[in-house]
Amino acid sequence: MCGIVGYVGEREALPILMDGLARLEYRGYDSAGVALLGSDGRLRVAKQEGKLARLRAQLDARAEPPSGPTGLGHTRWATHGPPTTINAHPHHDEDGRLVLVHNGIIENYAPLREALRARGHRFDTETDTEVLVHLIEEAWYGRVATTAGADGTTDRTTDGDATSVTADRGLRGPAGSPIGADGPSRFAAAVRAALRQVEGAYALVVMSEDLPGTLVAARHFSPLVLGLGEGEQLVASDIPALLSHTRRVLLLEDGDVALVERAGVTVTDLAGQPQAREALTVTWDAAAAEKGGYAHFVRKEIDEQPGALADTLRGRLDGDRIHLPELAALDLDAIRRICVVACGTSLYAGMLARLMLERWARLPVEVAIASELRYGDPVLGPESLVILVSQSGETADTLAAQRLARAKGAPTLAVTNSVGSSITRAADATLYLQVGPEIGVVATKTFTGQLAVLTLLAAELGRRRGHFDAARVADLARDLRALPEAMTLAIAGEPAIRAAAEALADRRSMFFIGRGFNHPVALEAALKLKEISYIHAEGYPAGELKHGPIAMLDPSIPVFAFATPAPTYDKLVSNLEEVRARGAELVVVAGAGDTDIARLAERVLYVPVLREELEPFVNATVAQLFAYHAAVALGRDVDQPRNLAKSVTVE
Ligand code: G6P
Repeated sequence: MCGIVGYVGEREALPILMDGLARLEYRGYDSAGVALLGSDGRLRVAKQEGKLARLRAQLDARAEPPSGPTGLGHTRWATHGPPTTINAHPHHDEDGRLVLVHNGIIENYAPLREALRARGHRFDTETDTEVLVHLIEEAWYGRVATTAGADGTTDRTTDGDATSVTADRGLRGPAGSPIGADGPSRFAAAVRAALRQVEGAYALVVMSEDLPGTLVAARHFSPLVLGLGEGEQLVASDIPALLSHTRRVLLLEDGDVALVERAGVTVTDLAGQPQAREALTVTWDAAAAEKGGYAHFVRKEIDEQPGALADTLRGRLDGDRIHLPELAALDLDAIRRICVVACGTSLYAGMLARLMLERWARLPVEVAIASELRYGDPVLGPESLVILVSQSGETADTLAAQRLARAKGAPTLAVTNSVGSSITRAADATLYLQVGPEIGVVATKTFTGQLAVLTLLAAELGRRRGHFDAARVADLARDLRALPEAMTLAIAGEPAIRAAAEALADRRSMFFIGRGFNHPVALEAALKLKEISYIHAEGYPAGELKHGPIAMLDPSIPVFAFATPAPTYDKLVSNLEEVRARGAELVVVAGAGDTDIARLAERVLYVPVLREELEPFVNATVAQLFAYHAAVALGRDVDQPRNLAKSVTVE
């Protein structure tokens, strides 16, 4: 997790860093910090627990905020050590002459820290990250630093819960030698030497007080992108943080170490061998990631779904044919089974994919939770297609499952929204969602985008395997083309959904139930409510309720049922009778025209009638709006719920 930024150039770095961090806050928001190297050769750090706004307030209150044309910044999602100011990044060496920001987990930090302590290093924080800066310090200075060198003073001040560290020194290189023209490349070599001792995941940026206009950035399993400019270069965890400054980006690969200087960047591997990396030009707009008049990104992104769906389908429904040229990279004739791997909301999209793949392609499909699969001993091989569903393409557990699948010889197909993300680079083929950036931490338009891509995939595999003929493809294509309009109608039902949410927001717990395609929808609806309103919720297959959870029901616990047309509709109605008999309040999502169901329910939320496989698009939209309005009624932080992050790059 965590967002990191860096800048070298001629401009004042602080506003550039703060703007970049604001765009990365979805990656974590427990604390934030910046470090700048001033033109006076002084390194200054400001960090603050809490969201970026608190760091901004601290900086605004300072008579002399840190300034300079070289800097780095960080917004944190805590893993090791609580989210306090002292544990906030950047971290520094004993003298405050080196500063570093990191995203990831250093797995061997404990033995490294003990060894460093034995060599005289002092640790200020409880983070795994701090070992990195001490390892680099040793490699760069060639010795253990003392708390105050002979040639300057170190000044640490604590101001309330805000810490600032400044060091005032003359220029000095490794082991006290003057810095030569080769200083930056020697610094990059020192960083490589330090990183060769480290196990785990990192994206990091480090700078030295000795080297104005120089950053070293490195990546291994955590995302990092360079933004290439004229006389200035940027580093960030994700592309939106760069787009106000440049559209030319360079995606670092695992094991890359980049020397970033005003004039340009040089990339090597950990051994120092030069690596050729192509720059890309980003065509989408940063404005697409702005709020556009909505109170919350989540609400905006719910509304964007009909248009986003049209974007996902664009070019892929070619007349009455499904057009997925990306699949050419896979030997689909060799596939005998499928394993869909994902986490969170993406896992529920995977469960829906299974129903469609089994129904249309007649292939056995298993759905695996990535964090479980990665430590299991799954039966996978060249005949198993592993489909990795991840909106961010950076979820650590899903990436680890992908590595395991590849090691077992299984071909992998990524389904993601993030162009150039780690998952795409390790995949044999990638299907992009094409829904534009999603800023709200909880998945909304990426979920329906995943469903759309997986629907096309299942139909196309069915066609290739001879189970889904041209007429069925044509029917599906027609229904998919009509889907954006159906979603617009579902969203138009917002007043009734909002009234239900506001009426029930004070309940401590809720059940969400459904059968068949509505079972994963019920799971997603419960997850959405938990994530943004913090109301306890359980999603259950309706037929399973009687095997235990029904004991929980009483008039205080509402039951939210998805009762849209399906072969199991009558069975579901019996389940609703059982719920009703226990006095629970019922909210039912039903197909337009189903007036009978109203006799069972306190509230009915109507949606357009669709073929069963496409009902999740509208039913999930109702669930999103319900969770959204419950969260707003409770005054929750809808876009950035507590304890969550958009892209979970740690396990
Ligand atoms: C986080 C997010 C969830 C998301 C899950 C999987 O936990 O808060 O909303 O569903 O990660 O993310 P992915 O990027 O792999 O789809």
